[in-house]
Amino acid sequence: MLDERFGHEIHLKDRPLGTPTENDFEFVKVNVPRLKQGHFLVRNLWMSVDPYMRGRMRDAKSYLPPFQLNKPLEGDCVGQIIESKNNQFKVGEYVHSNFGWREFWTSMSGSGITKINPKSTPIQHYLGVLGRTGLTAYVGILKIGELKNEGKNNTVFVSAASGAVGSVACQIAKIMGCHVVGSTSSLEKVRWLLDEAKIDDAFNYKEVGEDNISPQLRKLCPNGIDIYFDNVGGNHLYAALDNMNPFGRIVLCGMISQYNVPSFPNPKSGSPNLFLAISNRLKIQGFIVRDHYHMLGEFCTNMSKWIGEGKIKSEETVFEGLKNAPKAFIGLFKGEKMGKMLVKI
Ligand SMILES: NC(=O)c1ccc[n+]([C@@H]2O[C@H](COP(=O)([O-])OP(=O)(O)OC[C@H]3O[C@@H](n4cnc5c(N)ncnc54)[C@H](OP(=O)(O)O)[C@@H]3O)[C@@H](O)[C@H]2O)c1
Repeated sequence: MLDERFGHEIHLKDRPLGTPTENDFEFVKVNVPRLKQGHFLVRNLWMSVDPYMRGRMRDAKSYLPPFQLNKPLEGDCVGQIIESKNNQFKVGEYVHSNFGWREFWTSMSGSGITKINPKSTPIQHYLGVLGRTGLTAYVGILKIGELKNEGKNNTVFVSAASGAVGSVACQIAKIMGCHVVGSTSSLEKVRWLLDEAKIDDAFNYKEVGEDNISPQLRKLCPNGIDIYFDNVGGNHLYAALDNMNPFGRIVLCGMISQYNVPSFPNPKSGSPNLFLAISNRLKIQGFIVRDHYHMLGEFCTNMSKWIGEGKIKSEETVFEGLKNAPKAFIGLFKGEKMGKMLVKI
């Protein structure tokens, strides 16, 4: 039983204009309700902050509804059941849910809640490499990018390559035998990509300059690019288009460089070089990971095996305490982290 029947949540106070600030969020004290028959109470232990949440902070129609003002935000989290009046969900069990951004939550039926095994892997991995993040990389590179076992002849370019999704996409492409090049924003991250993720080449786009990404790619991918895994959009996408091989594939996973642009997702100007997609007969496909949950079983089997074999390395950047969740979220747009950004609640 909880001694004190209250906890905290992070609410969206204002819809951010441009890059979010801590003033857009509020740390709110709330009562934890007494349980009724069939209910159970969970104490969140870890939560994920993700770039897609920026889109839900806009009051605009998208593939997910906008977050409501003065209500708790939502997102991936893992926690432990601490009280239960439901026979299916026992005290001590660990669960994954979408009730992030709060310390405690109550489920009335267990609907949408997945039990997780804390013995097989650290539980926060279900928010990263073994969760939606890893699945995004897996689906994006293998299914949307149509990367099969003939990887040896493929050059793959990944942007935000040291990030949560990007780092896994890079390493899967390496497992498939591709020549892999990544972009990121610091020397330390370039070193991690080369020394730990063991990709073939990496560059710091801030040092190279956003306008020089295209010549940099020409240098590092002398045989052209067969698959571009796009996490960033903008100049990275235009530079990749310049360097794609005929019949190449561009996997549109995310466009983080654009998320804080006020006119997003309706920019005033389009891609200056999209005609190259026609002349090079490219396939450009966007995707949303939730359309591919049927691949979870196959993904978990392969990813667990690769992690066990030391073929997939993952990093975490951890902020301590729910109060610091807005800081962690804002950090995503500043590149102030390595690997998966997490909050230990
Ligand atoms: N389609 C889907 O279903 C799906 C699912 C999950 C994620 N995504 C997308 O995948 C992308 C990566 O997500 P993630 O969760 O793995 O995040 P992440 O890569 O771990 O974190 C975001 C990274 O983006 C880079 N970045 C931020 N602002 C940038 C800018 N202006 N220009 C270039 N790079 C910038 C930074 O890395 P550097 O230090 O390298 O600059 C930052 O660390 C995002 O675009 C996200 O929206 C899509």
